[in-house]
Amino acid sequence: MHGGLGSNSIASVGFPVQRPRRLRRNSTIRRLVRETQLSVDDLVLPLFVVPGSGVEKPVASMPGVFQQSVDRTVETAVRARDAGLPAVILFGIPPQKDAEGSGAWHDEGEVQRATAAIKRAAPDLLVITDVCLCEYTDHGHCGVLSGEAVANDATLARLQLAAVSHARAGADIVAPSDMMDGRVAAIRSALDFDGFEDVAILSYAVKYCSSFYGPFRDAAESAPRFGDRRTYQMDPANADEGMREAALDIEEGADVVMVKPALPYLDVVHRLRLRFDVPIAAYQVSGEYSMIKAAAMNGWIDERRAIDETLTSIKRAGADFIITYFALDFAERG
Ligand code: PBG
Repeated sequence: MHGGLGSNSIASVGFPVQRPRRLRRNSTIRRLVRETQLSVDDLVLPLFVVPGSGVEKPVASMPGVFQQSVDRTVETAVRARDAGLPAVILFGIPPQKDAEGSGAWHDEGEVQRATAAIKRAAPDLLVITDVCLCEYTDHGHCGVLSGEAVANDATLARLQLAAVSHARAGADIVAPSDMMDGRVAAIRSALDFDGFEDVAILSYAVKYCSSFYGPFRDAAESAPRFGDRRTYQMDPANADEGMREAALDIEEGADVVMVKPALPYLDVVHRLRLRFDVPIAAYQVSGEYSMIKAAAMNGWIDERRAIDETLTSIKRAGADFIITYFALDFAERG
C-alpha cells in the first residue's frame, strides 16, 4: 500500500477508469455525444398585430419586440419563413374594446386580416392564432363577466366564434389561452361543424398564473383592470393538476398541449413528456425574454449563450417545440 497520491483509494467509485471529461475534450467530440439538438424547426415566433398601416411600435418592456400593423406583420412573417421558421403565432390588439370582447371574432379584425395576408404571401408558413378575449375586453379578463367573476360557459360561445373566424381567415392552428373549462371541446365541435376539421388545436393546457406575463400585457394591452387571473389560470404550486388539465384537453380533442411559462415549469414539461404521447409545446414567455434581454443589456450575461441554454433546456425537458420571442434572432443567426 505504497501507491502514489490516491492511486487506488478512489478506484471504488470508478476513477480513474471512468473519466467523463474524455467526452468533453473538444467541440467535435462534444458534438458527437450531444443529446439535444436545437433547430429552427423547433421554434415559433409570436407577433403582435395592431390597427393601421406602416405601424411599427417598439414594446418598451421587450426590447427588440414590436407591435406591427398588418402590412408590417406580413413582412416579418416572410422574413421568418425565409429564415426557416415553421410558424408564427398571432396576437391582435383591436381598435376598440368592449365588455364582450367582440373584436375577437370580427372577420376584418387585425388577426384575421394578418392571417389571410400571411397565407397569401407565405403559404407554407404555418399561422397559429391565439384564441382569447383578454386583448378584446375593456376589463382585460380572458372571458365575459358575471359581476366581477369570469363566466366560464358564457365565454365558451365567444371563443367558438373567435376560433371559427380565425379558421375562416386561413389559420392552420388555433391556440386557446383563456383557461376556461371545456373550451377545447367547444372549439373542436365549432370548427368541425363549420367544415374546419383539419384546423388543429394547440391548447395552452397547463397555463400558470404567472408574474412572467407582465411585459406581454404591455405588448398586447391586455392587463386586467381589476383583480387577477387566479380563478382561471393555475396555481404555480401545482403540478398534478397540470396532468389533469392536459389529460382533459387531450380527451377533448387537443392536438398539441402546451406548458406556459417554460423555464420555471420544466418539471411539468418533463412530467407531461413521460405521461403523454402527443406533441408538447412550451412557451418561453415575455418575462423570460425580458429578463434575459435586461441582464444582457447590462452586460451581466451573454445573451446568445443564455438564449441557446434556455431553449436547449426547454427542449431537453421534453418540449417538441417552443414559442419564443427569440425565434427570429436564433433563425437569422444561422
Ligand atoms: C392571453 C395570453 C397571455 C399570454 C399569451 N396569451 C397573457 C395572459 O394570460 O395574461 C402571455 C404570453 C407572454 O407573456 O409572452 N390570454
